[in-house]
Amino acid sequence: MRVYFDYNATSPLALGVADAVSAATRDLFGNASSVHYFGQQAKAALDDARSAVAALIGAEPSEVVFTAGGTESDNFAIRGAAETLEQSGRRHLVASAIEHEAVLNTLKALARRGWRTTLLPVDQTGIVSPERVRELVTDDTAIVSVMHANNEIGTIQPIAELSEIAHARGALMHTDAVQSTGKIPVDVRALGVDLLSLSAHKFNGPKGTGALWIKRGTRMQPLLTGGKHERNRRAGTENVPGIVGMGVAARLAVAKMADEGRRVAGFRDRLEDAILRNIPGTAVNGARQPRVPNTTNISFDRVEAESLLIALDLEGIAVSTGSACSSGTLEPSHVLRAMGLPPHRTQNSLRFSLGMFSTEEEVDRVAGVLPGLVEKLRGLTRKAGAVSA
Ligand SMILES: Cc1ncc(COP(=O)(O)O)c(C=O)c1O
Repeated sequence: MRVYFDYNATSPLALGVADAVSAATRDLFGNASSVHYFGQQAKAALDDARSAVAALIGAEPSEVVFTAGGTESDNFAIRGAAETLEQSGRRHLVASAIEHEAVLNTLKALARRGWRTTLLPVDQTGIVSPERVRELVTDDTAIVSVMHANNEIGTIQPIAELSEIAHARGALMHTDAVQSTGKIPVDVRALGVDLLSLSAHKFNGPKGTGALWIKRGTRMQPLLTGGKHERNRRAGTENVPGIVGMGVAARLAVAKMADEGRRVAGFRDRLEDAILRNIPGTAVNGARQPRVPNTTNISFDRVEAESLLIALDLEGIAVSTGSACSSGTLEPSHVLRAMGLPPHRTQNSLRFSLGMFSTEEEVDRVAGVLPGLVEKLRGLTRKAGAVSA
């Protein structure tokens, strides 16, 4: 039995998505910009998917710009707005310290071009404090970018409140909703944002497909220049099969979100409770509420997270030490570090992220295997300590 508990890295396709992608690849090969029948078939499929994605986030279809995923959407949001706002004299960007690298490294790149940047601190809850945002956003701030849900610990940020603070200073508000879209209700109007990023492969759609929602009236420079695709906002022939797949995944997410959320949260809580109860020296990182239903991040005292990850993999269980991008390096998680966790906890934490195909048997298998593995690794650490002492 193989167990996949790494849904925040990427998720398997929902039922029906692969067939839709395959059919679109075969049958909708026309270029959506072509005026003939083949082009119009492809265009109709794009329009249908645009409506599905818009419905998922409470938006108008015309405000949805298709991209090649979350990273491009984040880059487009920040670079596209920054380039426009530069002319107004604003030269300051604000983001939380626990953003995904797609946001953090975009800020770094703009800092090299003269932008002032401020990272918002978080405390051990992993939630940005609106009071701190109020202090740090100034009349010079162009964009405030705070993620809706964090990819490593799952905490949900008070975006509606932060949007009000940003707007009071005349700044635009962007949220990276890559980890919340499809998992919890996301409504662009209720969040009060101007820009919202999403990515299909995090809600059981295909990889390399996403969208940036741009509130009507928001002036943006395109990231990719070329043809007039996407209302002049994102040049390049559209990835029709990928976008069709995203549309199918979006409709399924809307239909199943409430039930799925309850089911997956039940499994996540069952796993979390079993680990905390049966393994001494364990703790959940970050606030347990508000949190997306599928994620838990747990530290295991006196265990090297990488070793536990490998031991679990040998048992057929896939989890993560944090964001997929930083695994493979021994860099401690910037999220846990920003939360002020001591070094041993930033090095000994694992992320378990569940989803659509997770089952109770899988939860019980992971919960059953973990105590023995942790005990074994702690024993090895003790022996190594004894030898080196
Ligand atoms: C919060 C967040 N933002 C952005 C991304 C990047 O999305 P994509 O993989 O679609 O480029 C990810 C993916 O890990 C993410 O978790």
